[in-house]
Amino acid sequence: MSQKLKFMDFCAGIGGGRLGLTNLGLECVAFSEIDPLAVNTYNVLHDSDEKNYGDLTKIDTNKLPKFDLLIGGFPCQTFSIVGKRKGFDDERGKIIYSLVKILKNNKIPFFILENVKGLISHDKGRTLDTIKELLENAGYDLYYNVLNSLDYGVPQMRERVYFVGIKKGLCKKEFKWPRKIKNKNIENFLCDDESVILPLDNVTFNKYLNNKYNKGKYNLKEILSKDYLVLDTRQSDLRIYKNKVPTLRTGRHGILYVKNGELHKLTGYEGLLLQGFPDEIANKAKNAKINSNKLLSQAGNAMTVNVISAICKELLKCIEEETNE
Ligand SMILES: C[S@@+](CC[C@H](N)C(=O)[O-])C[C@H]1O[C@@H](n2cnc3c(N)ncnc32)[C@H](O)[C@@H]1O
Repeated sequence: MSQKLKFMDFCAGIGGGRLGLTNLGLECVAFSEIDPLAVNTYNVLHDSDEKNYGDLTKIDTNKLPKFDLLIGGFPCQTFSIVGKRKGFDDERGKIIYSLVKILKNNKIPFFILENVKGLISHDKGRTLDTIKELLENAGYDLYYNVLNSLDYGVPQMRERVYFVGIKKGLCKKEFKWPRKIKNKNIENFLCDDESVILPLDNVTFNKYLNNKYNKGKYNLKEILSKDYLVLDTRQSDLRIYKNKVPTLRTGRHGILYVKNGELHKLTGYEGLLLQGFPDEIANKAKNAKINSNKLLSQAGNAMTVNVISAICKELLKCIEEETNE
């Protein structure tokens, strides 16, 4: 059955979710994305020729193709701590209503949704309660959990809330969240031979190093002696990470790492690897000359491929048990 499962990719971005599913043999029948630059990268990475239905809030549900699973990483900004926390009052917060409409009208058996962890505490938990109620009332057994990409084979700290829905009565077996797996070495991810080296006298970097919070705290010589140490500069803060990278985010381009005694800027290609895109797919973006900073932003918006595969594998166990009975 898993071979035949068809899905549609909503708020598709650059298709991290899509790849997590196609890796398991599922077939993408269409997608929906409004950002033309993300669509361009999506087409490059996935060689996709499926139809883009554009703005999902304006879709005529009768015109959608038939599919079994809806995947959607609805926009983060409305719910995230980074955003202004307007929640449902923000237009984009209403995307969930359109997704629920599609689930209901098109009687979709399964869904996987993703959002930022901040959704859970947004508006004292009321936003989460509303979303849960909406999805359950649409006729689904609902499971939700916060997973960290770091636990699923990529060295990136990325906590996201995932929702899995199974149409009531479809599966007797309860959905189980995937088990954590051992992480891979960070060297395999920070490996772009086109990464730019930051001169050690870079004014901005030195401002971070020597501002009133950090002065005397870090020894640059010592930092540079440790290959693959990761440095994150943001606001007035300088943070150092070993064997892992902080959450990639749109607009956060202050991530550096040490290699051969030099400071390298994290590239878009490396951002893709850190989101679980394999080297051969990430290379397509390089070959298509997609701007590295733009790609890094897009990677920061994506779902982690490995996490989606791990979740979907568990979902398939529930589905396959039904078909085998
Ligand atoms: C958090 S990102 C999801 C990324 C995606 N899941 C991936 O793996 O790359 C949210 C995406 O939703 C898109 N979006 C926002 N409003 C939309 C709408 N009304 N219809 C379709 N896509 C929308 C944004 O352009 C953005 O790319």
